[in-house]
Amino acid sequence: MADSLEEAARAAQANAYAPYSSYRVGAALEAIDGRVFVGCNVENVSYGLTICAERSAVVRAVADGARRFRRLVVVSDSEPPASPCGACRQVLLEFGSELLVESIGPGSRRRWLLGDLLPAAFSKGTLA
Ligand code: THU
Repeated sequence: MADSLEEAARAAQANAYAPYSSYRVGAALEAIDGRVFVGCNVENVSYGLTICAERSAVVRAVADGARRFRRLVVVSDSEPPASPCGACRQVLLEFGSELLVESIGPGSRRRWLLGDLLPAAFSKGTLA
C-alpha cells in the first residue's frame, strides 16, 4: 500500500521536466518534524546543468528551514529501482548518514541507509 511519502514522490514525478532523457524521477523527503518536501528532476538543454529529483527536494527543504530528515522516497520507472546518483548521495549526506532511502520502481522497491550508499565519504569530520 502506498504511504503518503510515496504518493508525494509520485505526484512530483508527474512534474518532472525531462525532455532530453524522458527519464522521470520524483522524490519526497520527510523531515523529523513531519514536513514533506518534494522534488523532481529538472533537465536543461545544457545537459550538465540538470538537477536530480533528490537534490531538488533537499534544496527545497533547506530553503524552508528543515535540516534534519528521516526518510527519502524516490520514484522512477526503472527496474530494479534506481539508487541515487553519487552527487545526490554527497549532498544528502551533508544532513546526516542515518537517512533511510527507499527507491520504488514499477515492480519492486529497494531500501538503504544513506551512510551505506556512500562509504568512506568526504565528510565534515574530514575538515575538522
Ligand atoms: N536523475 C535523478 O533525478 N536522480 C538520480 O539519482 C539519477 C538521475 C535524473 C537526472 C536526469 O534528468 C535523468 O535522471 C537521467 O539521468
